Amino acid sequence: MRVAVTGPTGEIGLSTITALEAHPDVTHIVGMARRPFDAAAQGWTKTTYRQGDILDRESVDALVDDVDVVVHLAFIIMGSREESARVNLAGTRNVFEATVAARRPRRLVYTSSVAAYGYHSDNPVPITEDVPVRGSSEHYYSEQKAECEAVLAEVTSQSSLEVYVLRPCIVAGPKATALFDAMPWNQLPRPVRGLTQALPLLKPPFPDPGTPLQLVHHDDVAAAIALAVTTGSAPPGPYNIAGDGVLSMSEVGEALGARPVKVPRSAAVATSEVISRLPFVPSALEWLHAGRTSVVMDTAKARTQLGWTPKYSAAQTLSLLASSVR
Ligand SMILES: NC(=O)c1ccc[n+]([C@@H]2O[C@H](COP(=O)([O-])OP(=O)(O)OC[C@H]3O[C@@H](n4cnc5c(N)ncnc54)[C@H](OP(=O)(O)O)[C@@H]3O)[C@@H](O)[C@H]2O)c1
Repeated sequence: MRVAVTGPTGEIGLSTITALEAHPDVTHIVGMARRPFDAAAQGWTKTTYRQGDILDRESVDALVDDVDVVVHLAFIIMGSREESARVNLAGTRNVFEATVAARRPRRLVYTSSVAAYGYHSDNPVPITEDVPVRGSSEHYYSEQKAECEAVLAEVTSQSSLEVYVLRPCIVAGPKATALFDAMPWNQLPRPVRGLTQALPLLKPPFPDPGTPLQLVHHDDVAAAIALAVTTGSAPPGPYNIAGDGVLSMSEVGEALGARPVKVPRSAAVATSEVISRLPFVPSALEWLHAGRTSVVMDTAKARTQLGWTPKYSAAQTLSLLASSVR
C-alpha cells in the first residue's frame, strides 16, 4: 500500500508517519509540506519527503497520482483569519479534487476537528457523528473546518473514493505542545516565565467557566489515522476522536503554568457574544469562543467500528504534556 500524506512534519504528521512506517501493509509513504525536512534523520525507512505547497495544484497532482491512500493533514491552525482561509480552503479543495481526479487513489483520510461542529448551545452532550457540522462563523478555525467538510462532501459525492473523516479534540502530548505554546504567558521570555512560576501570586489568572475539555494524545490520533488508512472492515464516514475522561479548564490552566479562577458560565457566554460583535478582532482572540459551551464528543463509533482504543486518557495526556514542557 502506497500512502501520500500532506503536512507530515506537523504535530499530528510526525506521529502519523511513525505509525504508518510501523504498519506491515504500508510499503511506501510520500509526504509533502512547504519547508525543508530530512525524513531519513527521523529513522524512517519507507518515507520520502518532498517540498511542496497544497496551494500549487501541480505539486498536489504529483503527490497523489501514484498512491492508494491520501491522508490530508496540512492546515494552518494558528494564523490570521485571512491567511488561514487562503491556505485551508483553497489548499484543501486542491487536495480533494486532485485525489478524485487521480487514477490510483481509492481512499481519502481527512483530519477535520471537533471545532467543525461549532459552539452551539443546542449541541447535544456528548456529540455523536450524526450531529450536523455547522461550524461557528465567529471563529475562523471552526468556520473553515465546517466548510472543508462541506467541500469534501461536494467534491467526492460522485466518486467511488472511500472517505474517512476524523474529528479529533485538542491534540497534546510530549511531541504536541501547541496547547502550551498558545498560552500567552508561555510566550514571555524564559526568565520572566520562571519568575511567575516561582511566585504563585504572579501566576497569570486563567478563567474557568466550567466548560469541560477533552484531550487526545498525538500517538492515539496517529493510531486512528493508521486504522483509517488500512482498515478493511470499518465503514467510511466521520469518527470522533478523544481520549477517555474530561478535564476542567482549571486542571489544564494549572498544569500549564496559570492560576485558575472560577468564573460563571454566563461570563464566558457574554464575553464570547461581545467579541463576536466587535468589528476587528485579532484572530487569536477568536479562540475564546471555544470555551463558551461544551463540545464533548462521544467516541463510541471509533471504538466499536474503527477498532480504535486510545492508550492515554485526557488526564495522562495533560500530565505528559506538562512534564515535557517543564
Ligand atoms: N493539533 C490539534 O490540536 C488538532 C486537533 C484537531 C484537528 N487537527 C487537525 O489535524 C491536522 C493536522 O494538525 P497539526 O496539529 O499536525 O498541525 P501543525 O502542527 O500546524 O502542522 C501543519 C502541517 O501542515 C503543513 N502545511 C501547512 N501549510 C501548508 C501548505 N500550504 N502546503 C503544504 N503543507 C502545509 C506544515 O508544514 P509547513 O509549514 O512546512 O508547510 C505542517 O507539516 C489539521 O487539519 C488540524 O486542523 C489538529
